[in-house]
Amino acid sequence: MTDTPEEPLLLTPGPITTSRSTKEKMLRDWGSRDRDFIALTQRVRDRLLQLACGEVGHVCVPVQGSGTFGIEAMLGTLVPREGKVLVLVNGAYGARMAEIVARMGRNHLVVSHEENRPLDPQALEEALVGDPVITHVAAVHCETGSGLLNPIEEIAAVAARQGRRLLLDAISTFGALPLDVAALPCDAAVGSANKCLEGVPGVAFVILRKDSLAASQGNASSLSLDLFEQWQALEKTGQWRFTPPTQVVAALGQALEEHAAEGAVRGRGDRYRANCRTLVEGMRELGFQTFLPDALQAPIIVAFHSPRDKNFVFSAFYDFLRDKGYVIYPGKVTTADTFRIGCIGKVYEEDVLSVLAAVREAMAAFSFKPA
Ligand SMILES: Cc1ncc(COP(=O)(O)O)c(C=O)c1O
Repeated sequence: MTDTPEEPLLLTPGPITTSRSTKEKMLRDWGSRDRDFIALTQRVRDRLLQLACGEVGHVCVPVQGSGTFGIEAMLGTLVPREGKVLVLVNGAYGARMAEIVARMGRNHLVVSHEENRPLDPQALEEALVGDPVITHVAAVHCETGSGLLNPIEEIAAVAARQGRRLLLDAISTFGALPLDVAALPCDAAVGSANKCLEGVPGVAFVILRKDSLAASQGNASSLSLDLFEQWQALEKTGQWRFTPPTQVVAALGQALEEHAAEGAVRGRGDRYRANCRTLVEGMRELGFQTFLPDALQAPIIVAFHSPRDKNFVFSAFYDFLRDKGYVIYPGKVTTADTFRIGCIGKVYEEDVLSVLAAVREAMAAFSFKPA
């Protein structure tokens, strides 16, 4: 059970429900240039790097802001101004990367797939063979809009075979699904504090190949989202370039300890898989249908088809569950009417069972049929 039952339980893609001990770590003020905060920053960076299996030849650079800030920093820093990015899109977050590179004015090509289809390694291979100017491939690990898990190992293998560099949005999977940046291989992967690591929002981080980062000086056209400069400052002084989100980093330090105590990526992933299984089975028993087949479903968040029954109104359903203490999420796919229920955060199987009971009550209260 959550240890903050007085708060609504967040069944969302983030921010998510965190532990009381993680929240309590924010009760201290930290001098951003003080040795305690410098040591904390180093500890957090080292642990994040370890989790990505990137200790040799890789580095972790934190970025103030939400996950999108990390993505924008990764793309802007690593893609040279004369580079070209192939962006793989099968949902909202791939589309967001395409928008970012377009706004940066970087040359790019978008390869799109249906929202209920995984990224296609063969389509990638053909596109890369057909366009030797492409320097980088950008892809999303779990498309959180639909909950789809992309075949990132196969995508990485194609990019490597074709001699192009992979940039990965691992925001919704980092900490719960295995990621080995060296084995993949990928040049950079972005994560965020407030997803599977169960920290609070306000900091993203990028795991990068050191040689790629070292070669990126001058690429970024943004001052604040320049990972090369941020890295240089951290290496030289241990300090962030601009005001760091000190309490957020302290909370992340605590969240990482709790993540380790739970069995790190394996343990966290097991709990989320159990949550996801219980959720999907329970919702199907009630008559709801998932947007994705099980083979494509990541244990992060599940999209369900909204009932077609005229008695189903999402906002009323949402408010009903909210009054019972559960916050769910609207849908994000563009081709179907869906809503989403998350499996991540400090949420356990017994919480999922309570949510299912509340959904059953909502069905009776509004008398709608799920299918
Ligand atoms: C896969 C993925 N990429 C990017 C983002 C954007 O993160 P943020 O909303 O923290 O900027 C999210 C957020 O849910 C995500 O799931």
